[in-house]
Amino acid sequence: MRPLRLVHVVGARPNFMKIAPVMRAVAAAGFAAQRLVHTGQHYDVSMSDVFFSDLGMPVPDVHLGVGSGSHAEQTARVMIGFEKVCLAEAPDLVVVAGDVNSTLACAIDCAKLWIPCAHVEAGLRSFDLRMPEEVNRIVTDRLCELLFTPSPDADENLRREGTDPARVFRVGNVMIDTLLAHLPRARACGAPARLGVEPNGYAVLTLHRPSNVDDPAILRGLLDALEPIQARVPVVFPVHPRTRARLEEAGLLARIGALPGLRLCEPLGYLEFLGLTSQARLVLTDSGGLQEESTALGIPCLTLRESTERPITVTEGTNTVVGTDPARVAAEALRALAGAGKAGRTPALWDGRASERIAGVLQAWWSARAPDGGPRPR
Ligand code: UD1
Repeated sequence: MRPLRLVHVVGARPNFMKIAPVMRAVAAAGFAAQRLVHTGQHYDVSMSDVFFSDLGMPVPDVHLGVGSGSHAEQTARVMIGFEKVCLAEAPDLVVVAGDVNSTLACAIDCAKLWIPCAHVEAGLRSFDLRMPEEVNRIVTDRLCELLFTPSPDADENLRREGTDPARVFRVGNVMIDTLLAHLPRARACGAPARLGVEPNGYAVLTLHRPSNVDDPAILRGLLDALEPIQARVPVVFPVHPRTRARLEEAGLLARIGALPGLRLCEPLGYLEFLGLTSQARLVLTDSGGLQEESTALGIPCLTLRESTERPITVTEGTNTVVGTDPARVAAEALRALAGAGKAGRTPALWDGRASERIAGVLQAWWSARAPDGGPRPR
């Protein structure tokens, strides 16, 4: 049987740590010829390049260079570029991950071209359609042939939407594969010292959701919440480019200057950021991935949103969804800093082997599909 022609897609920061272990596991299993496409949704060195070096990822075979834009512009540019790649490379299968605009765009291309597509991190739902990622998740899952889920809630969401269970494979969490593989190196790189904080003596903050940072009132409220927190422990805040722009536009940089315990820095690479979070006393975030990483690390996490698409981090892990009310955020943070944060446990199959299980499913799928070495249309 000839090798499976596999194209992996990455576009934005949270994709890199999901695709890296899958490519490695597939390479080790030796049944596929792999190509990597970077859409260029994220393009700053600190949002993209540093992840390739930190994670030992191959240089992309194709870079679409789509850059920033409105949702329609960005999605459309990826669709146009990736369609050409699909026509030129004629992959047997495409792998997309997560819920960013690049994920959606490539899944649509594949569906229109009858190219089977596999979705890593399928089935997550926040049930909030105002989140662009929720739209991306629903459409991507509807269009993909193979759905790799991280947790039972994801299986249940797909079942409720009428998904054929034969398409769903609960493999666990690929992000945790990457986390476990890199934790020793990450802890050794000395991020807390470089940022002037003591291990276990600081909090880490990340913010980038449009619903938080595009609304100056919410942004101001979150700074109010930070006032008592940064008076208790230093708060390290690696600032996403979108957030930096919004802070500037809202005239809030002076306010930040008046909070001496709030330490702003540029977005960090994978190893430095993991080194930082793994030695923090508390994480405050509106990110999706960081809720999972905190759970795997056993560090209390407060999610500054009204909902989460990752409920297992709440039911089993260290996460509490606290919303953005300043009084509640401050109270929960001070409680956690006083030692009353959630302890939690690591969910089943978040064991560092999810990518191996994905490689196994892909290999079996290819064997069943092409016993004669050739693809069949759907
Ligand atoms: C995207 C994803 C989000 C993910 C996040 C991680 C979608 C809908 N959103 O949001 O799910 O959690 O990535 O960061 O796909 N920018 C730069 N340099 C870059 C990238 C972005 O300056 O390398 C700035 C630009 O001003 C850009 C803005 O950030 O317009 C937003 O970037 P974009 O990729 O559109 O969305 P994110 O907010 O990063």
